[in-house]
Amino acid sequence: MIRVEDINVDNVEDVFKVCSYNKLEDPLQQSGITLKRQWLLGMLRKYGPCTKLAYYDDKPVAQILYYPESAAPFITNPREDVVFINCVYNPFPQARGKGAGTALINKILHECRDKLPILRGKPCRFIVAKPFNTGEGIPLDKFYRTNGFKQGQHEMFHEIAAEYIPRVMGEYRPLPEDRGRAVMFYDPTCEFSYPFAVHVKEFLQGIDTDLPVDLINSWLQPEESIRRGNQGLIVNATVIRSFWIEKEKFRNEVIQALDK
Ligand SMILES: CC(C)(COP(=O)(O)OP(=O)(O)OC[C@H]1O[C@@H](n2cnc3c(N)ncnc32)[C@H](O)[C@@H]1OP(=O)(O)O)[C@@H](O)C(=O)NCCC(=O)NCCS
Repeated sequence: MIRVEDINVDNVEDVFKVCSYNKLEDPLQQSGITLKRQWLLGMLRKYGPCTKLAYYDDKPVAQILYYPESAAPFITNPREDVVFINCVYNPFPQARGKGAGTALINKILHECRDKLPILRGKPCRFIVAKPFNTGEGIPLDKFYRTNGFKQGQHEMFHEIAAEYIPRVMGEYRPLPEDRGRAVMFYDPTCEFSYPFAVHVKEFLQGIDTDLPVDLINSWLQPEESIRRGNQGLIVNATVIRSFWIEKEKFRNEVIQALDK
C-alpha cells in the first residue's frame, strides 16, 4: 500500500499536495511554492533528486527533503559526503501510522549505506538533521531517535561510513549597517519559510511602523547569511532567538532589541 518515489519533473507537484495540501490556493503560500519548485528542479538538475515522496493507496501523503551539506552555499565549512535531512512530514492524520514516514527514512538510510545519487555515488559518511516541532504527528526528534539518530552538537546525527564530526556554527557580530533595521532570512527548501518571513515582517512593523525590514533568500544571497553567522532574524543588530509562535516572548525580545 506504501510506495516511495524520488521526485522528478513529472511528480514534483505532489510535494505540494503533501506539505501545502490545505493551502494550495493561498497566494502567499504560492510564492513559497514557486521558490521551492525552482529550488527542487535546480537541485534535480545539478545533484539529482533531493526529495522522496511516499504514496499511500496512490495518494501522496508524506515527503522527506535532504541534500548534501556541501550544496548549501551559506555554509562556509561544510562536511564532505554528509547528508543533511531538512524535514520529514506526513500531515494527514488518517494516513499516519501506516508506515509512510518509516518507509522514507529507511529508503534514505539504505541509499546512504550504498550509493546515494546526490553524493555522485560516493558513500555517505554520516547524516545530520535539525529536528523542529510543529506540534503535529510525532515530533521529529522522537522520530529520528526511533530510527537510530543520536543527539550531537546543535543537531542529531546518524553515522553511516564514518564517525560523526560536529560543525562549528557561525556567530553574529553586530554589524553597523544592521542598526535601526531588521534582517530576516528565508529558505526556499521549505514553502512555509517565505510566507513566515512576510508574517514576521508584518509583526515587526506592527511594533514599529517605521522599521525597515529586509527579507533575504539565504540560498541566493548566501554572503548576507554568512556575514551574520547564519542567524535567522536580526533586529537592530541583535539576534532574536525566540520563535515567532511564542508571540509574547518574541514581542518582548524584539522590543528589548529595538530599545538598545
Ligand atoms: C514523523 C512523521 C513523518 C511520521 O509519519 P508516519 O507516516 O505516521 O510514520 P509511520 O507510519 O512510519 O509511523 C512511525 C511510528 O509512529 C507510530 N505512529 C504514527 N502515527 C501515530 C499516532 N498518531 N499515534 C501513535 N503512534 C503513531 C507508528 O506506529 C510508528 O511506530 P513504530 O516506529 O514503533 O512502528 C509524522 O508523524 C509527522 O509528520 N510528524 C510531524 C513532523 C514535522 O513536524 N515535520 C516538519 C513539518 S514541516
